Amino acid sequence: MKTNKDVFILGIESSCDETAASICLNGKILSNIIASQAIHQQYGGVVPELASRAHMQNIVPVVDRALEEANITCSQLNGIAFTQSPGLIGALLVGTGFAKSMALSLNIPLIGVHHMQAHILSNLIENPEMKLPFLCLTVSGGHTQIVVCHSPLKMEVIGETIDDAAGEAFDKSAKLLGLPYPGGPLIDRYAKNGNPKAFDFPEPQIEGLNFSFSGVKTSILYFLQKKLKEDSTFIERNLDDLCASIQGCIVGILLKKLKKASLETGIRNICMAGGVSANSGLRNALLELGNKQHWKVHIPSFEYCTDNAAMIAITGYHKYMAGYRSDLSVTASARAEW
Ligand code: KG4
Ligand code: ZN
Repeated sequence: MKTNKDVFILGIESSCDETAASICLNGKILSNIIASQAIHQQYGGVVPELASRAHMQNIVPVVDRALEEANITCSQLNGIAFTQSPGLIGALLVGTGFAKSMALSLNIPLIGVHHMQAHILSNLIENPEMKLPFLCLTVSGGHTQIVVCHSPLKMEVIGETIDDAAGEAFDKSAKLLGLPYPGGPLIDRYAKNGNPKAFDFPEPQIEGLNFSFSGVKTSILYFLQKKLKEDSTFIERNLDDLCASIQGCIVGILLKKLKKASLETGIRNICMAGGVSANSGLRNALLELGNKQHWKVHIPSFEYCTDNAAMIAITGYHKYMAGYRSDLSVTASARAEW
């Protein structure tokens, strides 16, 4: 039952290839609906124009289902949060236009949300009492960052990739192995039966807390070209070991910098966010490292790791409570400053 103090927020996510909507009540998620776009698989990557069209088709039914599952009507909403940036501009504009029209027609506040900040706050969904500050390793298809979260609305990026993101490293390596897009989850699956020490791919030597993954991809490419010349069946005969070794290399790079960041900042509350945090090798390795380092580790459930609207709704809730409102003239942007 709604009291006068209850705050219902609708979150809308449309930055890439998932159309998603979620309702949260006072920071608690009541529904979390996602329509994934299978159409991109046949093209080996997300086709922006097709993504925008699919968002157009999906957004009304997805929002309707989110309201239905939360058992509320739109007249009960107190605000509408939407992904404003970063992402594919055509895809973002569908969610932005929809959120603006709905907020205008209901005469309720509109709240623009930064997609990467929302990934980080997904850690508060199942762990609202999370101790601050915490360090978050944010690993997705477009980003790889180490962020200090001082408060839900105050975050500081202390390290990031200088070239490819971790998700790209997974997807591009998978492509070299002949696996379909997105290859990250497939590498994860095959790696479960493989030996991570079977093949050795060199770690890049990057100073400070930044990352680099483009060299890893190139070394895998040259390694495979050499092996395939000797034996054209090399990949199929060694797929599990190749996946385990590639995954081990990427996980090693990520955790080495996270450990350095914890030592330098003295922060021992550690979180993860973004699609790559669904990787089982990374999840297990982080838990193991956390045990050794006496960290307090939180990793979101799978449904909150990859793109979802629950993270947009919870971020919207915190912004709403802090008095943040977007103007109706607000627009989406493909790139965004923190
Ligand atoms: O956060 P996300 O869903 O979308 C972006 O905002 O980019 O992340 C997508 C990325 C893709 O690169 C995908 O391959 C990767 O996350 N990913 C994984 C796994 N699940 C998703 N990578 C490795 N292992 C997984 N289990
Ligand atoms: Zn994302």
